[in-house]
Amino acid sequence: MSKNILILPGDGIGPEIVSEAVKVLVCLQDVYGLEVDMDEALVGGAAYDATGHPLPEATLQYAREADAVLLGAVGGPKWEPLDISVRPEKGLLGLRSELGLFANLRPAILYPQLAEASTLKPEVVSGLDIMIVRELTGGIYFGQPRGVRELESGEKEGYNTLIYRESEVDRIVRVAMDIAMKRDRRVCSVDKANVLECTELWREVATRAGGDYPDVELSHMYVDNAAMQLVRAPKQFDVMVTTNMFGDILSDCAAMLTGSIGMLPSASLDENGKGMYEPIHGSAPDISGKGLANPLATILSVAMLLRYSLDEPQMAERVEQAVNSVLDSGLRTPDIASPGTVEVGTSEMGDAVVKALQAA
Ligand code: IPM
Ligand code: MG
Repeated sequence: MSKNILILPGDGIGPEIVSEAVKVLVCLQDVYGLEVDMDEALVGGAAYDATGHPLPEATLQYAREADAVLLGAVGGPKWEPLDISVRPEKGLLGLRSELGLFANLRPAILYPQLAEASTLKPEVVSGLDIMIVRELTGGIYFGQPRGVRELESGEKEGYNTLIYRESEVDRIVRVAMDIAMKRDRRVCSVDKANVLECTELWREVATRAGGDYPDVELSHMYVDNAAMQLVRAPKQFDVMVTTNMFGDILSDCAAMLTGSIGMLPSASLDENGKGMYEPIHGSAPDISGKGLANPLATILSVAMLLRYSLDEPQMAERVEQAVNSVLDSGLRTPDIASPGTVEVGTSEMGDAVVKALQAA
């Protein structure tokens, strides 16, 4: 039976990179018999411009019915003056929360071909392979109460709430543990238990859940130290699990270790493995429309989609191998270029991946 993928290009470089990923899916259909249907819908600023809302009801309905969602990126300066309730980012946050996508997997892998592109010394990052598991539907991103209020003095005060129930912590820690079982069996839970009660509870629940995984070594680290360790000695980590906001910050940091944020895919999964897949970089308005964006993170997101939501591990491997062979051939978008490589644009890079897939 054919599976349904909802394509959400979004804003900025989103449409450019997503069309390269769609080329890859079409190639898998044509050459390898992948059975998928694709629909496209609006999200983010593009949706706001067309309908007045960053997550139109029709898009949400499509997303609910799809087997998987592939998203480009949302946001841009054009929409920054809007009220926070209708900003493009709300479209993304709404999808995560409405679809119950609580488990965000952000692998940070250093491709050996790109060791030179990292700002860290090659010996610090070579062989790097970290999986960051970020809680995605709770914490301070969604906690109530929130807002900006005016005090009697006339001064304004902004406030947000960091809040986690035991069950929310338990399920994300178990996702991290299950992933670790298929890797090096080490999980580092990141919190700020020395200051924040909420993450003191996080640590307690993590320890309890970890007790069910005697084969996994569970450690705990404060977030400030974790940020430092990520740039000091990143290879000490196997799987990291953390809150929504800490995960947002640490995953950008981990991404940069690999040389380019333009290389990293992500998966956001619900309880049943349904997922939304997106590159972890944003909409990059500064380069949008110029054909400079790196489509590989989105193409690698397709690989994650095939593996986690479509149960097509072989197709996923084909895509990953095609990306590898394109990197081997020396082609680079500007973000990962270094002396001696051949600089190409967005669509040339997509075409090269398709060609490698066809040749495999
Ligand atoms: C991310 C992004 C989003 C987040 C923004 C665009 C809302 O930074 O996916 O990491 O903060 O989660
Ligand atoms: Mg982020």
